This record gives sequence, structure tokens and C-alpha cells, in this order.
Amino acid sequence: MNKDKVIIFDTTLRDGEQTAGAGLTADEKMRIAKQLAKLKVDVIEAGFAGSSPGDFEAVKRIANEITGPIITTLARALPADIDAAGNALKGVPNSRIHTFLSSSDVHLMHQMKKDREAIMVMAVDAVKRSKDYVDDVEFSPMDATRTDPEYLYAILEEVIEAGATTVNIPDTVGYSNPKEFGDLIKSIKKNVSNIDKAIISVHCHNDLGMATANSLSAVSAGARQIEGCINGLGERAGNAALEEVIMALSTRPSFYNLFTDVNTEEIGTSSRLISSIFGFPIQYNKAIVGQNAFRHSSGIHQDAFLKERTTFEIMEPETVGWRGEALVLGKLSGRAGLRSRLNDLGYNLGDEELNEIFKAFKELADNKRELTDLDLEALMSEQHRISDTQTKFEVKTVKVICGNSSDPNAEILLLCPDGREINANSGGTGPVDAVCKAIDQITKIDVELTEFSVSAVTEGIDSIGEVTIRIEKDGSIYSGRGSDTDIVVASAKAYVNAINRFISIIDQSKKTII
Ligand code: KIV
Ligand code: ZN
Repeated sequence: MNKDKVIIFDTTLRDGEQTAGAGLTADEKMRIAKQLAKLKVDVIEAGFAGSSPGDFEAVKRIANEITGPIITTLARALPADIDAAGNALKGVPNSRIHTFLSSSDVHLMHQMKKDREAIMVMAVDAVKRSKDYVDDVEFSPMDATRTDPEYLYAILEEVIEAGATTVNIPDTVGYSNPKEFGDLIKSIKKNVSNIDKAIISVHCHNDLGMATANSLSAVSAGARQIEGCINGLGERAGNAALEEVIMALSTRPSFYNLFTDVNTEEIGTSSRLISSIFGFPIQYNKAIVGQNAFRHSSGIHQDAFLKERTTFEIMEPETVGWRGEALVLGKLSGRAGLRSRLNDLGYNLGDEELNEIFKAFKELADNKRELTDLDLEALMSEQHRISDTQTKFEVKTVKVICGNSSDPNAEILLLCPDGREINANSGGTGPVDAVCKAIDQITKIDVELTEFSVSAVTEGIDSIGEVTIRIEKDGSIYSGRGSDTDIVVASAKAYVNAINRFISIIDQSKKTII
């Protein structure tokens, strides 16, 4: 491998799924994995095969159906977890087992309740057992940045001796800073005698907002794999945002002298897809993928920008797939035009799916004169939300009365999983509350709505409204999204989507171990 290449390891489907309130169905995971393959990340961590039967199946399916990236699964340094990982990856040539074990004294004392010698034995045994299944084995000493460096060197040396081909240095609690983390990588290169037999990887969390900076400092110091999630998803404050590290390396080539093989033009689509499926909106000023990332507002900036783009723009928006709001289709566009534009956007539809989308497209075009790529993506997401959940309720009609001169009331017609169409009527504190209460009467599932937000997909009064909802059920949070030019209809769709996702995820007996 070229010594200047940085391997991009995407853990959106594993650490990203540990984001509080996330939780994906198998179909959703598959859809994301396909997009990550188009993005050309080098490694996809597809899940945690030993954590539940649902995750085992999802890892197996992704490993068998996705070509291009190496597919890996996480496994605790325990025989049962490693066997689950090995079985999920059975027969898949391009696969890796990623096994991990805490190494800091605070974890050893309070979490593992084991001494350093016992941990060393477990680490070596885990790597050896993983080698029985695959050649490509990654080992992570969890909480490496708070581990006694001498012990860290020793454990790395032993696992490399046992066959680890990548050693990952996690800043598990986002404690480090760029100078310190870069120095740690240099000291590992100096003090681990067999380090040239393995690739050094880094996995930074963002608790102090330094995950991207720490990852970049590490590659400057000699690491050659960066782990992270699209949109910076992940446990607590998240992981390094992969779009940020990728674009930092590609925007400043003469500073870093490093490169990745990522197809940066797929960044925008990946980010929007993942935001939509996870139900986590992207903050407007988010680097690279926020709505404002390439908007110039001050008159002075605009003036200079119009004279010479580089005065205020360090990246061309097109390099990250920014298509903005270019007009693409309208009311008079036909099926062939829609198919061709969707093809350009990466959606290859069969006739039946095209018919469904064309119907929704025509309805939208009746309400919205100009349809952009962002509108088409919103339509596709809405369509996938309906098809991605196996057991499902579907919103048929929504009728509401609201305003300041009458009591809010909603009438809802839902298609139920058993094929029946059921109608319900309810009042509420407002139209959305009335809609949710009417839906509850039909689903008979007792959930609590904990969060509600609306955003516009494009500018203008006729924009599609995208509603994000979170519901709580038995202590767990499930998100749902819905889009429509009528935001009360979008709210009904989002609420039903959250309920459908709850049912699908429970069916997969999804549970998180770490
Ligand atoms: O943050 C962490 O330490 C992890 C490991 C499992 C790599 O996610
Ligand atoms: Zn992590």
C-alpha cells in the first residue's frame, strides 16, 4: 500500500448507531452501506455481530452483498463475540474482525475488575482466536489515551506478535488534544518494536470538540487509518466527522502530503441520506455538509467572491457533491425525465418503484412549481421510509381543524399491518397533538412524543417540510421522519415512521451491549 494513503474506516453503522436515540433497521443499514461503498470508504464497520441476532444478520447481509470496502464487525475480546463475528463474516474474502478490550487502569479497576496481566492474556487470546477466522485483525485498547503508556506499548507489541494487522488507538472519552495525541502516536512508533508490522489507526471521540483535529494530528505523526462517522455521529458527542478529515486532507495536500481514495463528490448525498435515516438533522453551520457551508452572506464577502471565488471559498462546493437548489424538473416533466434525473442522483429504479415515485412526484409538482434535486431526494427518502420497515402502518389521509377560533381536531385513516384501513378521530392541545392521539387510538401502542422539529428542504413558501420526531418507549428512544408540503401531514408520517421503526427494531431484538 502507498505509504501516503490514509485508510478511511467508517463506523457510522456501529459507533454511529450508538448515538443516543439512533437505532436502525436491517434495510436501513443496507441502504447506508451501499452509499458508503459509493463514497469509496476503505472499511465499513457494519455492526457488532455478537450484540444481537438482528445485528448478526445485518453484518452478514452487508458482508455478503457489498463489494469494494473491507467489511468488519466489532467483537469484545471474548470467545463468544469473536465466534459470532467470524460466523457473520464466514466466506467473505474482504473481511476483518475488530476486537477490543479496555486498557486504562480506571477501566480495569471499575469496569473489567481485572489486573493488567489478565487483560494482556485476554487481548492476545482474542487476536489469536480472530486469526482462526480471518487474516485481517484489528485490535483496539479501549481508553488508550488514559492508559499508562508503558502498558500500552506492551499490549500493542503482544497483539501484533499474535497477528493483529491494525492497531487502533481510541481516544474513547475525547480527552486528548492534538499535540498530546500526535506525540502519543510518535511514541508508539518509537517504543513498540514490531510496529512496522501493523497499521496504526486512530478513533477519536468529540467530547471536547477535538476529534477531527486529533485525528489529523495523528496522521501527521504517522497513523494511517482514521475511524469516524459521517456527520460526526457516535457515542455521546460523537466521533470524528469523516467528511471533515477527508476534506482537510484533500484541501491541504501540500501541508499533509497524504491522500484518501474517497470519492468526495458522494459526501453530500451520504450526509443527507444518513441524516434522514438516523433522524438527526445537520446543523446549518456544520463544516462541509451544513446548509450554510457554502453560503456567503456579508456584502463584502459576496462582492469579493463574485470577483474571484477563492477570496472566500477554500473548496469548490461541487467537490463535495453540493448541488444546491438547481431547478431540475417541473409539473410537465414526464416519467422518462424523472427516471433519468433519479439515475443521475444514483437511484436506479424498477418500473414499479418508478410508478410509485412518479405518483408522489406529480402530487408534489401540483403544490410546488419548481422541483430541485433536494426535493427528489426528500421524495425518495419518504418512499424508502415506507418500504424499509417490515411491519408497518401507513398514513392514508389526514384531516385537521385548528386555529384560534375552534378546538383542534384530527381525523386519520391508517393502513394497518394486517391490511385493514382504520379511521380515528381525536382532539388535542394543537393539530399535531390531535394527529398523534388519533394515531395512538389506531396503533394501540403507548408511546410518548419527546421531540418535534420541522425544517424546510429548500427555500420558499412552497418548500417541502421535513418533520423529525422522537418517541420514547420502555426507556428507549426511536426517531421518525416524514416530509410533505403540508407540515401536519408530514408530522403524521413522521410519527407513524417512528412507530414503524420501533416495531422493526424490536423485531430484530436490537440491544446495545457497550
Ligand atoms: O470509543 C472506543 O473506544 C470504541 C472502541 C470499541 C474502538 O468505540
Ligand atoms: Zn468509539
